Amino acid sequence: MLNNKKILLGITGGIAAYKCAHLVRLLVKQGAEVKVILTPAAAEFITPQTLSVLSKNTVITQFFDANNNWNNHVKLAQWADVFLITPLTANTLAKMANGLCDSVLLATYLSSKNKTIVAPAMDLEMYQHPTTQQNLQKITSFGNLIIPAETGELASGLVGEGRMAEPENIMVFLTHFFSRNLPLYGKKALVNAGPTYEAIDPVRFIGNRSSGKMGIAIAQKLSEFGAEVTLVLGPSAQEIENKNIHLIRVQSADEMYNACLQHYNLQNIVVCSAAVADYKPEIVSAQKIKKTDETLTLKLIKTKDILGVLGKQKTTQCLIGFALETENLIDYATKKLKNKNLDIIVANAVSEQNNVFGSDSNKITIIDKHNKITNFEFNTKHNIANHIVNYIISYIPKQT
Ligand code: CTP
Repeated sequence: MLNNKKILLGITGGIAAYKCAHLVRLLVKQGAEVKVILTPAAAEFITPQTLSVLSKNTVITQFFDANNNWNNHVKLAQWADVFLITPLTANTLAKMANGLCDSVLLATYLSSKNKTIVAPAMDLEMYQHPTTQQNLQKITSFGNLIIPAETGELASGLVGEGRMAEPENIMVFLTHFFSRNLPLYGKKALVNAGPTYEAIDPVRFIGNRSSGKMGIAIAQKLSEFGAEVTLVLGPSAQEIENKNIHLIRVQSADEMYNACLQHYNLQNIVVCSAAVADYKPEIVSAQKIKKTDETLTLKLIKTKDILGVLGKQKTTQCLIGFALETENLIDYATKKLKNKNLDIIVANAVSEQNNVFGSDSNKITIIDKHNKITNFEFNTKHNIANHIVNYIISYIPKQT
């Protein structure tokens, strides 16, 4: 989400400045380009060298560097997509509120137009002081955004509001900030993915070879396009790195059903890509089954058709299902689209060339409820996810 975003980080002189080392690491890890400006007081709390190594850029502390070159604050302000000032002390806040300009950080702030985000950090009484609160209101009225201080133990030993927001929470704030212009900003999306395991006894289960890669790639794309994503994931070995995705891990079809139903009403987009087991053992043995007999017969009963139930309960959601077929792809997929009351179905033809399970590639055809059929070339699941999410984005306005 922060890939190639230019973040100018301004650090002022508070004890919480040490947290900025971690913040810079998180920003760089997310693909952001980071430049750092320190006030002279901040350099007492964290060294420019540390920040320079972590940000891979020279850190600016003065109007002129050691070689007497001018650090052009106007250029810095223009370079940045966002000027993030944290920790913001009461002193710098007061200067920002009143247009003072006695450091390169403040000169850069005055040159930045409507793109400054601040995360204050102060002791309890300082943060609550009417002047501080008034100054915060004042800089908000200038178009600046505030990441409120958090509650907890403060440097003074007091407990209360005033701690600098944790770097992880600042990252979430920035992600939302950059999502505002994305096509799915403000939309909620639910994705289910992966296999389900249906217990036979405490150690055995019936499962399938689904890796969950396709659904995870879709969840990731939806998040990249600005949606607030909940991913209900069956037992998959895949790790979900994106902290903006709300991950719910489940094992069985029943657990997946419950999780999906619980979140369904609030959603704008719902993608059911999970390889849900169609049948489960009627009786789950409480103890491990011993191999006493030559044969073992298991009676299987149908699981709930999650997508089918979601289709019946559909109100305004855009509902997307998958169809995996070995023959009559378009015919069978179209029937599923109609029977399950879907808006879009993503059809996979399983063949020797297109071994969907576990592989990193796939070939799909998208059919929508207006009978539009679109074929896509064989591609990586990552690119296929991009096609699917782009299709959803263009489809949503047409939804009736
Ligand atoms: N699905 C589901 N719950 C189930 C079975 C399937 O939600 N118990 C969903 C899958 O996530 C997929 C779609 O239904 O999006 C198609 O699944 P598939 O098993 O191919 O279709 P079925 O309707 O079960 O038909 P059949 O197996 O007979 O082809």
